[in-house]
Amino acid sequence: MSLLIKGGTVVNADSSQRADVLISDGVIVAIREDLEAPTGAEVIDAGGQYVMPGGIDPHTHMQLPFMGTVASEDFYTGTAAALAGGTTMIIDFVIPDPEQPLMDAYNTWRGWSEKACADYSFHVAVTWWDESVHKDMGTLVREEGVNSFKHFMAYKGAIMAEDEVLYNSFTRAVELGAIVTAHAENGELVFQLQKKLMEMGMTGPEAHPLSRPPAAEGEAANRAIRLAEVIGVPLYLVHVSTKDALDEIIRARLEGQRVFGEALAGHLLVDDSVYRHPDFEYAAAHVMSPPFREKHHQEALWKGLQSGSLQTTATDHCCFCADQKAMGKDDFTMIPNGTAGVEDRMAVLWTHGVSTGKLTKEEFVAVTSANTANIFNIYPRKGRVAVGADADIVVWDPEASKTISAKTHHQNVDFNIFEGMEVKGLPSHTIANGKLRFKEGELMTNKGDGRYIKRPAFQPMFSALDLAAKANVPTPVDRS
Ligand code: URP
Ligand code: ZN
Ligand code: ZN
Repeated sequence: MSLLIKGGTVVNADSSQRADVLISDGVIVAIREDLEAPTGAEVIDAGGQYVMPGGIDPHTHMQLPFMGTVASEDFYTGTAAALAGGTTMIIDFVIPDPEQPLMDAYNTWRGWSEKACADYSFHVAVTWWDESVHKDMGTLVREEGVNSFKHFMAYKGAIMAEDEVLYNSFTRAVELGAIVTAHAENGELVFQLQKKLMEMGMTGPEAHPLSRPPAAEGEAANRAIRLAEVIGVPLYLVHVSTKDALDEIIRARLEGQRVFGEALAGHLLVDDSVYRHPDFEYAAAHVMSPPFREKHHQEALWKGLQSGSLQTTATDHCCFCADQKAMGKDDFTMIPNGTAGVEDRMAVLWTHGVSTGKLTKEEFVAVTSANTANIFNIYPRKGRVAVGADADIVVWDPEASKTISAKTHHQNVDFNIFEGMEVKGLPSHTIANGKLRFKEGELMTNKGDGRYIKRPAFQPMFSALDLAAKANVPTPVDRS
């Protein structure tokens, strides 16, 4: 089955060119001007539009069991919403309970994700440690194509990884050629502040950001970065929301450390005033961690993206409806943490990034797909419109516009943090694995069309600990 995209401008992270794109059997087979449509090929008229790699969202949580409930978006509805917004691949998270074997959790998530209609992959969280975790990390890297392990430095009493777990997991990742990722917030500090605020009678969502101050993120970012530095493992910080954490990344990168940072569309555009809204439902709908921040942090995040200090954008798509958020009516610490966005990220970033001149269209491709593909080792199969690459493509109409609303979005949640936002720049067509899945407002998806994407390990790495030992103490001192 072939598909010809005619008359558009192909935009990659490093260049743009006027060219047609021919797709056959899920793969891009030709890119040049004036291509002829093979017999029977479907033709898409992309005149005046951009032909870009489909978005890759490196941070989603479909149907996540979390805080006593389960996220309302499943792998089918979530990937369909992603396709409607021009995103053709997600990287979700396997999150084992403490003491749960990693492989058990991994197999459970693989079962849930079979209904996905866009390609997907998994980071696997290390939430505890013993010899079985050491072994399972090896199996995941060598046999299952997992090359990234996640660490929650927050959520004490649930999935928080103590420093001992971080040390063991980071060290194992180096041996395996994997990258480590971290949710950087000091979980002990958050726990103590939550307790204190509740004791003071601060029970509503307005207390949520107070319990998770920027310093708690800055401290944890620094700790993760310093551990990674000593151990010699590449580190990716998810949902960087503060200048505090960004400054730690900038410092480390200037020292030559392989540290990467992700910005969420929400953190770039929503500020902490939402938590002081008089309506509980509205304020609770915004409860996610790290919380939305004061405006000056947003400005810092935009500069981080523009300067390349932050390389990727994501959504942390983790949906809970009003009845689920109501679990925390009398205690803000019980409000399930999470907000949506997998459908909106591309349009929001185009509107507030490209249309404002903060990002070029090529930089837009870099921060919405190519950099993620690079960092997680699936480039150029993903993240590039190139011959031989997977045909995951968004045809982007820079003139199309809409108003974002929960009433019209495809996401399976009753609230949208971008409600009322006018966006200009939308997908006219989304092609996933060579098939047209979204066309001018209409989704054409089938459960199970998405594929699990293996991500190979990186070149074997040398442990910084071993190197330091060799350099500093070449032989034991003989004191006999
Ligand atoms: O509030 C959030 N972000 N919920 C999902 C879990 C996480 O911390 O990423
Ligand atoms: Zn997180
Ligand atoms: Zn998350």
